[in-house]
Amino acid sequence: MKRMYFIYFIIALFFSIIPATAAKNTFTLWQLPSQINTIGNSYIILTRNGKVVVMDGGVKEEAPYLRGFLAALGNEVEAWFVTHPHPDHIGALTEILKTPQGIVIKKLYQSEFSPAFRDTEPDCAPAANAYYDALAALGVPVTNYATPGAQLDIDGVNFKILTVTNENIRVNPYNNSSMAIRVWDKKKSILFLADLGLESGDLLLNGPYRKDLDCDYLQMAHHGQRGVSKDFYRTVKFSACLWPTPSWVYNNDAGNGFNTHTLETVEIRELMEELGITRHYISFEGLSKIE
Ligand SMILES: [Fe+2]
Repeated sequence: MKRMYFIYFIIALFFSIIPATAAKNTFTLWQLPSQINTIGNSYIILTRNGKVVVMDGGVKEEAPYLRGFLAALGNEVEAWFVTHPHPDHIGALTEILKTPQGIVIKKLYQSEFSPAFRDTEPDCAPAANAYYDALAALGVPVTNYATPGAQLDIDGVNFKILTVTNENIRVNPYNNSSMAIRVWDKKKSILFLADLGLESGDLLLNGPYRKDLDCDYLQMAHHGQRGVSKDFYRTVKFSACLWPTPSWVYNNDAGNGFNTHTLETVEIRELMEELGITRHYISFEGLSKIE
């Protein structure tokens, strides 16, 4: 009889341990759908206690959609991460900074470009300047990362900055100065590569943060084409792709049908197939929700 009680005790103990050790989800990620079928990068994270984190925010024309999304979540942004000041990343944010209309940004994280570095891409400098000016005018508290490696915990969600602005890079300078960010909890991990190019991608792959690159969800660099190297994708382990990509880029379509453009997307899609990756979240197909 005593032996029976002991067995019941062991069974009860087993079931009481399972819920305590099972990985718990502490955040939801949305990849926002492309609103005008142009290139843009926009992600929102909601933590278990309702804290809102934004990654970039997309182009200027997507500001109304982003405002609506944020309003539905309470209009308070705990942290806004800006990967780099290209218009498809800071356009909507600049509009919000100019006229917040009730949106409160408690903290913004970036790796600021110096004025001289902004001029390395003369076409993009005015939008970058407008963004930095609007940010300063509103007085949002900012953390600027000059070196990689910083890690922060926002309501149980971990963020680690893996790359920062590299003003020594003269090739593809804005994209190669993207902040790559690892986001994770016990249940899932996401690697945001933003628009990292080949050069910074290879530095990251061969640098001290290699162990931070394997992940569940990988945001495809530079909207899925001419981003990091094929070697990067072949080396890093991941199970699903996040594509912040409009249909014409995804299909390499110059207006004459599939694969009629000069973009690299189809090659990268073929590589994903070769790697056995079958789960794809693509922004032109609609809102993706990952829990
Ligand atoms: Fe971009």
